[in-house]
Formats: sequence, structure tokens, C-alpha cells
Amino acid sequence: MSTEGLSAAQQKMIDEGVPQTAIDVFTHYYGQLEEGVTGSIPEDTIQPYLDPPKLDDVKIDPAHAKQVFDQLAIINLNGGLGTSMGLDKAKSLLPVRDGKTFLDIIVGQVLAARRGTNSRLPLIFMNSFRTRQDTLDVLAKYPDLQVGDLPLDFLQNKEPKLRTDDLTPVEWEADPTLEWCPPGHGDIYTALQTSGLLQQLLDAGFKYASVSNSDNLGTVPSPVIASWFASTGAPYAAELCRRTAADRKGGHLAVRKSDGRLILRDTAQTPEEEMDFFTDEHRHPYFHTNNLWFDLEQLDAVLKEREGVMGLPLIRNEKTVDPSDKTSPAVYQIESAMGAAIEVFEGATAIVVGRDRFLPVKATSDLLLVRSDLYALDQRQALVQQVPSVPAVKLASEPYKLINDFEARFPQGVPSLKEAVSLDVQGDWTFGRDVSVIGDAVLGAEGGTVPDGARVGTA
Ligand code: UTP
Repeated sequence: MSTEGLSAAQQKMIDEGVPQTAIDVFTHYYGQLEEGVTGSIPEDTIQPYLDPPKLDDVKIDPAHAKQVFDQLAIINLNGGLGTSMGLDKAKSLLPVRDGKTFLDIIVGQVLAARRGTNSRLPLIFMNSFRTRQDTLDVLAKYPDLQVGDLPLDFLQNKEPKLRTDDLTPVEWEADPTLEWCPPGHGDIYTALQTSGLLQQLLDAGFKYASVSNSDNLGTVPSPVIASWFASTGAPYAAELCRRTAADRKGGHLAVRKSDGRLILRDTAQTPEEEMDFFTDEHRHPYFHTNNLWFDLEQLDAVLKEREGVMGLPLIRNEKTVDPSDKTSPAVYQIESAMGAAIEVFEGATAIVVGRDRFLPVKATSDLLLVRSDLYALDQRQALVQQVPSVPAVKLASEPYKLINDFEARFPQGVPSLKEAVSLDVQGDWTFGRDVSVIGDAVLGAEGGTVPDGARVGTA
């Protein structure tokens, strides 16, 4: 038992002014971390979720959709640090296309939806201590964005990173801000409550929220899904997509045999020897997009009943205190996933949506896709796919994994991909201006320069 570790962490949070509810949530997870709780969900405890409602089958009454849209708030998750791509700030600050960043496009989508529906439609970002200032600086360009007294963002909580050897809060004098981390997007529930935003939304007459990741440009505000969600009366709904053989990662929903509740199972919760079941797109045919819908009144009731502690499964994320220095002390970051809350809500549901609502940028290869001519922005500021299918793009981890190295290889912009079937870059290649990839292209391990105007590939 590391009672000292927990007391030191709690004291550190108190000194930092972290709200008591967030400290209670941290304490809950700390106990699990000590006990070595793995959160494993074996295949024989669940049943596949095979027949969720489909957006394609939904018929709505436009008058109802308008009524629901007037009570809808858009919440965008922007507290993550993009560490997998070597960022230490919000991924959404990266430029995507036409000089616009993710943030600009998300704002554009909401402003276009407001014009199209004549609704209030507030857009509120969930930021962390690391992403807030940069984000608000960009949002200052949009004086019309704010709705009434509602804020443009709310701040998620922060917690100490814990040394893996003794579970005490790590000290890092070189940069004490690195001693802290945001607690994953599962913190949204605590943060909505501790920031007072949930109450403020309810007081202002908002009844529903549509929530998604800032690195997913596919979530254009949808009156159809809003209307469907409101008509179900459900407290909570998750958007799912049909899995293909290429979708081996994302989590999936399943029905828990013990109580019939829908649950989310991620890779980290699947026993190693059962990964074949997890990745089988016939057995678990839909993956979880992290696009969620909340009924704010029902969410408020659940949070009050649980005194702010949702008790979501723990995610133990092991990193180094300075992510860019692999020799710095190893730490655990205690996290939870927003979508895991589906098991907490009685009557939670899900809906299968089109792939156009899932355009995540998790790696630099995804960024290459959304920057390319495979997509174009339409008048809704939606990224619309211009070709029937998106090519498979593989970039060698060295030197393309980290954003600065990636950018340096495409100084004149990314190649045209609309005639590509696949692109496999195995070495260190720098691309010239107006390069086109045709059919299947492999650029070998020897590396080099792809000259201006080159057409690489098989066709
Ligand atoms: P990810 O974990 O996929 O993205 O979170 P990330 O945190 O930005 O990147 P990595 O893992 O460090 O490489 C998905 C979404 O959830 C938000 C992120 O901003 C992203 O939009 N998020 C994540 C939060 O808002 N808060 C968090 O604590 C974690």
C-alpha cells in the first residue's frame, strides 16, 4: 500500500486548487491502480451487439428536428496533447487545408449549421490546462461564436503523474508543468459538473449535447441524429460505424451477460489471447466512434446520484514524465474513456452512422489523407470524400511519426492521392511540389527526393 503516495497526490491536488470531486475520482482510480485492477472483459462475459438502429432507416419530422436543434449544444473534446504525433499541444491547432486548422473547420461547421437551421447551437470546447490558451487565441477570431452567457470552453481537471516504481507524484524540476496531466476524456463528466457548465446549459434551456473529438472532422452537426436521439428518450447514445477488415483497432460495444447492459470494450480491456475475437469484424461488426449524445437532464440526475464519481473503468497509461525524453522517469497517467460511461446509463443506446462521420487524425498518415485532394470542403464546411474509396497509406515510423519530421518531408504540400490505390513509404523521402500517386506506389527504404511534378506508382 502506498498510502503516502496517495496522500501526497491528494495534497498536491488540493494545493493546486483541484475541485474535491475530481480528487475523489482520482482517489477511486488510485485504489484500483494499487490493487492492480486490469479491467479485463473476457469474451465469454459478453454478447456481440449485432443489431443497433441505423441512421439510414431513420425518418424524421423536420419540425421536431428544428425544435431539438434549438435545445442542442455542441461539445468538442480538445484537452488531449497529441503526444502520439509528438505534439505537446492540441492537435486541433494543426493546419488541415485552405489555410484552416481543425479548430477553424469545426467553428465553420457550427456557424454554417446555425445559418442553415436558424438555431442557437453553442459550440463549447473542453480544454485542458495545456490546450486552453492556444485554443482561445484562435477562437478570438470568431466574435459571433459565443452564445449568450455561455463560455467558449470549460476546463477539465488535472492530476499528478505517478511514478511507476512507488506510485508517488513525480517531481520534475526541469519543467514542473510536466508533473501534471489531464485525466483522459472520461473526465468530461466530472468537468461538466465541477465547472458548473452542466447547470449553466440546463438553466439556459439546453436539453441535449452532441459530443465529439476535435481530431474528427466528420461530426458536422446533425439535425437528423439529434431528432432521432430525442425521440428515443434515451439518456445517452453512441455513434457506431460498420467495421471493415482494416478496422482492427477501435473499441466496440457489447452486451454484458450479467445485467444486459451495453458496455464499451477497448483493446486494453481485451485479454491478449482473445484479440482474435476483438478484431473479428464479423463477430463484433461495429466500432465505437467516440461521437456521443447526452440528455443533459438525465446526465445531471446520474451525476448527482453518484456524487460526481462515474466509476468508469481505469485506463493505466504508461509514459515518461517528459514524453520527449525517454530517459526521464516512467510514470502512470490515470485515465478513463468517455464512451465507457454507456454502462452507467440505464436505457443507453447507439446508432450506426456513415463513415463520413468518422475521419479521425490519430497519426501523421491520417493527416496526409485529410490534407490531400481525396477530400474537399463543401458549404457546410464538411470534408467530403471525392473518390469512392480512400487509399491505404503507410508511412515509415522513422521519419514520419512525429509532426515536425513529417512536415519537413512535405515542404510544398502533400501529393495528389485521388488516383492512388495504396502508398507505402518505407524510407526517408522528401516530396516535391505537385506530386501525384497513381495506383499502387512503393517508395523504398533507400529514401531520396520525389521531384516536382512526379507521378509515382503503377499505372
Ligand atoms: P486521443 O487520446 O485520441 O487524442 O483523444 P490526444 O490525447 O490528443 O492524443 P495522444 O493520445 O496524446 O496522442 C481523443 C480526443 O479526446 C480529447 C483529445 O483532444 C481528442 O480530441 N481528449 C483526450 C481530451 O479532451 N482530454 C483528455 O484528457 C484526453
